Amino acid sequence: MTDHGDERLFFGRRKGRPLRAGMQRRLDEDLAHRLLPLDAARGTPVDPKTWFPQMPRAVWLEIGFGGGEHLAWQAGHNPDSALIGCEPFINGVASLLRHLDAVEGDRVRVHPDDARDVLDVLAPECLERIFVLHADPWPKRRHHYRRIIQHETIARFYELLKPGGILRMATDDPGYLVWILARATAHPGFRWTGSAIGDFTDRKEDWPETRYEAKARREGRTPVYMEFHKPA
Ligand SMILES: C[S@@+](CC[C@H](N)C(=O)[O-])C[C@H]1O[C@@H](n2cnc3c(N)ncnc32)[C@H](O)[C@@H]1O
Repeated sequence: MTDHGDERLFFGRRKGRPLRAGMQRRLDEDLAHRLLPLDAARGTPVDPKTWFPQMPRAVWLEIGFGGGEHLAWQAGHNPDSALIGCEPFINGVASLLRHLDAVEGDRVRVHPDDARDVLDVLAPECLERIFVLHADPWPKRRHHYRRIIQHETIARFYELLKPGGILRMATDDPGYLVWILARATAHPGFRWTGSAIGDFTDRKEDWPETRYEAKARREGRTPVYMEFHKPA
């Protein structure tokens, strides 16, 4: 259930421009290997480490990875970790697959659909990091229930993070910023690391710019960064 009280619905785009032949080939050839065996998981909470051929030190999750630049960067810079990316927009999935050519090891799995399908099956305390970067802001009040950040998702992130785990979120939408902070700070467990203006507007070195964020900057909007910790 959401803040709005509706059963789960998905509101984003699944398809954009027709894919070029090369991108379509990538999907056809590379995606099957990276899909999560979610059907097999129904009913039993899963340790996502078992989804990788070599047991990773930690598993990270990115929700709504867009073109996949951030996910691929994190995978490339954290060779002992595995990443799961969720993105229903198939053009973005094709883009991620292309970026993964530069990443060593078989350490990325993809759910080309609603992230909540994955949140449902994971075992408690199985993730070390969760990224929700520039989620769709749905600025109209009557669409707020569509926002991925709700009290329920924040509570689920907390359950799924290990002690010491980190939730990173970003937005360039002032209304969504207030919404996110209201929900994340209302959670009794999460500790927000932000206390000064600089914490909002300075991206950490291990937090590369996303495609959407670059567009926001070009269009004169200021991206804001938030990090919430689950105490160790
Ligand atoms: C504004 S874009 C930002 C993309 C990327 N994070 C970036 O910063 O460039 C938001 C993305 O979230 C994806 N999205 C929306 N709802 C989602 C959901 N329920 N599960 C996973 N991804 C979702 C959309 O398809 C879209 O690509």
